[in-house]
Amino acid sequence: MDTRELVKGLKDRGEIVEIVEIGEENLSDKYAEQDILAINVDMSCTLRCENCEKFFDCRSPARMEIYQRRRMTQARDAMTNIKHKIAVVGGKGGVGKSIMTANMAVSLAMRGRKVSILDQDFDGATIPKMLGVENGRLKIGDSGIVPVEGFLGVQVVSMGFLLASEEVLTWFHDMRRSATEEFICHVNYGHRDFLLIDMPPGTSSDAMNVMEYIPELAGAVVVTIPSDVSQNVARKATLLCRKAGVPVFGVIENMSGYVCPKCGEAVNILSTGGGENLAKEMDVPFLGRIPLDPRLSKCSDEGTPFVYKFPDSQAARNLMQVVEQIEKNLGY
Ligand SMILES: Nc1ncnc2c1ncn2[C@@H]1O[C@H](COP(=O)(O)OP(=O)(O)O)[C@@H](O)[C@H]1O
Ligand code: SF4
Ligand SMILES: [Mg+2]
Repeated sequence: MDTRELVKGLKDRGEIVEIVEIGEENLSDKYAEQDILAINVDMSCTLRCENCEKFFDCRSPARMEIYQRRRMTQARDAMTNIKHKIAVVGGKGGVGKSIMTANMAVSLAMRGRKVSILDQDFDGATIPKMLGVENGRLKIGDSGIVPVEGFLGVQVVSMGFLLASEEVLTWFHDMRRSATEEFICHVNYGHRDFLLIDMPPGTSSDAMNVMEYIPELAGAVVVTIPSDVSQNVARKATLLCRKAGVPVFGVIENMSGYVCPKCGEAVNILSTGGGENLAKEMDVPFLGRIPLDPRLSKCSDEGTPFVYKFPDSQAARNLMQVVEQIEKNLGY
């Protein structure tokens, strides 16, 4: 095949993202063939930006087109009346992202805000249970999917409403992306002060999908636990936010110490200081420590909002302070 034809074919299929132009006048026939090897062909670019793991690194003009596409416009329209969209990110599963999301949402609602939660953890959708609305069902109305409303008017959108708890579903990449789209573009969120997004763990493609789709995230809260091992994943999640241009409000150190209810002695079961170190290293604010408190866990299993039931506990007071700092950051 003629080289020009080959190059045209690759270009038409979108497989060339960059071409090193070579002035033909400078080349003798002898070297022309070698120089063609200097064309930078990236075979992995399919121009399907919605499915591309290089989305945040990519500098191709084609990438920018994605924002003009219909689905992105739909996302913008669906979320247009939400004042502040905040992602709750973190390291591995089990560090307390969901329990922090649920309790921050209720703390904001206790301050009179209209709050919704988008539970994006498809493999571990726990928000409905934590907020006692697990028997709720998403309904479809004239203007899209209607969220389930729970305590203090906190609205929830979650895959947990669609899957029975004994059901195990293996999700393929495209299905996950479609579900992400569905929950972002076709929900009737209405007028809200806050949307908290309970993000999937780490920096998986699910996490990227959410950051790609949700227009103008106000910021992210990073949840970690004190021990060193969890910092690595939390650090990556923080870096993903940076890459996606999402400001980081700061770091919460969850499970930070435990006060024995019998003798009152404070014990740092999971070590201490990891969250603060991460905040320093990433040059973002440290939002506070939430101690281990068996009542937190019990409340979330029972579906009772802990911050409302035990507002004077150390954990609830610290959570309220976190929420106050976020509001302050947003100009409240
Ligand atoms: N500060 C805490 N005190 C007591 N239990 C906690 C605390 N933080 C989280 N837990 C418990 O740890 C488990 C994991 O929390 P979860 O929010 O589901 O984590 P993630 O969403 O990061 O996977 C839950 O059972 C929760 O009740
Ligand atoms: S983001 Fe789009 S243009 Fe960039 S490499 Fe991926 S598919 Fe290609
Ligand atoms: Mg979770």
